[in-house]
Amino acid sequence: MSKPIQNDIIANVSDNIPLSSVIEKRLSRRDVLQGGLQMATVTLIGGGLIGCSDDSNSQPISGNPPGEEPGPNFPQGIELGFESIPGSKTDGVVVPSGYTAQVLIPWGTPLNENAPDWHSDIKMTSAYQLNSVGMHHDGMYFFPLSDATTSKEFILAVNHEYIDTDALWNWDSSQHNGQDFDHDPLIGGFAILRDSEQVRTEMNAHGISLVHMRKNSLNSWEVVKNSNYNRRITSSTPVRLSGPVAGTDYVKTRYSTDGTQTRGTNSNCGCGYTPWGTYLSCEENWPDYFRMGAGESRNALLDDREYLHQDDKRLLVGQNHNFQGHSRGKYRWYAAATDPLNDDGEFSRWYPYSTIKTDANGKPVSNDATQDFRNEPRTFGYVVEVDPYSNTRVVKRTHLGRFRHEGCWPGKVVAGEPIVYYMGHDSLSEYLYRFVSAERWNPADANRPGEVYDRLSIGSKYLDKGTLYVAKFSDDGSGQWLPLTPSSANANSQRLDDLLALPKDDLAGILINTCDAADFMGATPMDRPEWAAVDPESGRLYLACTNNWRRRAKSEPEAGTNGGLDSTMPGIGPDIVHPDAVNPRYFSEGANKGKTSEGNEAGHIITLQDAANGSTDFTWDIFAFGGGANDLSNLSGLTELNQFAQPDGLFYDDRGNGTGILWIETDNGYDPVEQYTNDQLLAVIPSAVSKVSTDASAPIINESNQQALRRFLVSPNGCEVTGIFLTPDKKSLFLNIQHPENWPSSLDATVTTQGNIRPRSATVVVQRIDGGAIGSKS
Ligand code: FEO
Ligand code: CA
Ligand code: CA
Repeated sequence: MSKPIQNDIIANVSDNIPLSSVIEKRLSRRDVLQGGLQMATVTLIGGGLIGCSDDSNSQPISGNPPGEEPGPNFPQGIELGFESIPGSKTDGVVVPSGYTAQVLIPWGTPLNENAPDWHSDIKMTSAYQLNSVGMHHDGMYFFPLSDATTSKEFILAVNHEYIDTDALWNWDSSQHNGQDFDHDPLIGGFAILRDSEQVRTEMNAHGISLVHMRKNSLNSWEVVKNSNYNRRITSSTPVRLSGPVAGTDYVKTRYSTDGTQTRGTNSNCGCGYTPWGTYLSCEENWPDYFRMGAGESRNALLDDREYLHQDDKRLLVGQNHNFQGHSRGKYRWYAAATDPLNDDGEFSRWYPYSTIKTDANGKPVSNDATQDFRNEPRTFGYVVEVDPYSNTRVVKRTHLGRFRHEGCWPGKVVAGEPIVYYMGHDSLSEYLYRFVSAERWNPADANRPGEVYDRLSIGSKYLDKGTLYVAKFSDDGSGQWLPLTPSSANANSQRLDDLLALPKDDLAGILINTCDAADFMGATPMDRPEWAAVDPESGRLYLACTNNWRRRAKSEPEAGTNGGLDSTMPGIGPDIVHPDAVNPRYFSEGANKGKTSEGNEAGHIITLQDAANGSTDFTWDIFAFGGGANDLSNLSGLTELNQFAQPDGLFYDDRGNGTGILWIETDNGYDPVEQYTNDQLLAVIPSAVSKVSTDASAPIINESNQQALRRFLVSPNGCEVTGIFLTPDKKSLFLNIQHPENWPSSLDATVTTQGNIRPRSATVVVQRIDGGAIGSKS
């Protein structure tokens, strides 16, 4: 059992900035009705912080005041069946006693006979990599081969988000002098060429793996090598565009002059799945792979001639990898191109400007985009749909918007109601989106496991027609989904197509400019929305907001990206933003503990419920605040046994009757917690933490109930914990260990590595020795 937080920690606050002034408070709906602002005297966390607050008329911690609406209350149900484990900082996985953890499909695992068995001094080639598991495992999901074997045999779909060039090329990073491809020296203003075979290998280490897996008679999981289901999709694989953007001028290139195709999916981060049996893979940090201009920092203006499109500028395409005053592009794949003005763009497309014939002033000599790759970045930033049961060409579903997609999580699926997807844009001060299908769900379209038929046509029915929305959160716990359509009007009744200077009713233009459209509509900038998870029974959503160091006190001016001040200008997005009730924290810990008021360093988790499936109204609350046990801003009352920060992956493990386990993964870089433990997986049963406080600002997990949040697993040094699901029988928990420093050295994930090894990202499957359900008592 976790021990309660010590109250004496709070006493330190008096010398510093009072918490009540650095945590933006949520107003209850009653307060709003009364005219609101005069009543900013709400206590923060039950009784715990009253002593440090300036408030003299704090409210009691229990009993609803007249007219007050309580927070969400969850039904009672199952219990967690393990004790919270301590933190760990080793080169091994730690799980509670009674559990095992097996390493599966580490990077380089051969899928067929075209790749050799991986060994520690293997020289990876493009052909080997095309026939083996990619690097940096992230989102994943499973696709059963029959109804009878759902939890024992399936196709595992795994994203490969990016690569570790030291591990891929087996370099000692302290020795390879200049072989860090982002930072190759410049010669006459241009970086040195890269080897094409090497670049092809790196592109093939990205993308998606589909791997046939099964549980054997010893209850171990194994790959079915040479299975016809085994397949790789990489950053070079031909991909079809679908939805409103497909076939428009926005996406025509030298490769696809009719704008219906592109090559590759990239930066595949979080994921999703459909009830018709397809996998959804989400392109997140793809803007970093393009070289665009000559900017030196994220706030420096790039050479405008190299920003041919305001949408690329809005997405900071090419701004995050700079060296010697030049935008470089992650791994500099374009540098393998030798004739960018005439080639097929295999490499040159990653530096679009280099493919354009220009005049002496650097301006394109033609407006014909079919002659070059100026539109290549517009073929990335989408949700990709994959039919794991067939070899069908994968599809980018453009109606779900174009941004840095973290993941795509299905809402409640109900016959006769629309299909709903929630999507976070994981960047500083970006937004939460939702897609609602026009088509109503027909259970006749449900997946038929193992059968081969045209699932992507079913996908077109539900994902190519509908409405994309962005979330606007109000401080009283309510919110609205704002439609992003050409005729959507902003607060001044101006249409989005006019505001973006698009042709009338140009839906493709709105989707290409998703983020600028959301700016105009007044969406709420969030603290980097990462994964979400939905309770499939209630439709309740949980969303991890991992952190935001650009959220600042109201005394500091807000600012936009690209040197702009106003994010409602095309090409400019929100950057430094003020706190609000749903992103309330702007308070320093660590070295600046309590001395400054900037940033939400430890992150938080919110919960949200639509009024009905597809309704534009929702209510929200804060589920938990991350933080260290000794933080001043430890608003969920965490202790050593459950302190966490920078939540990232989430999974809602439905156990029926309105109950389930919310699994929380971290990708933490926050000192007070990082000094104590590596990244981790925690579990909480939402029904065990019903909000009792009448304080609208209190999180659902608070000092009174924090013991319900327990640490289940700790990861090896240097990695993040990501990609998670449980098999339907609840006996196998799959998760991914991404970019470990020095692991794995055994098939047993808990074995601590001795000496130094070539590290490999891998899937880990956790099972109970007694064969019982993971995480719960029975
Ligand atoms: Fe790829 Fe935002 O995590
Ligand atoms: Ca804008
Ligand atoms: Ca993530």
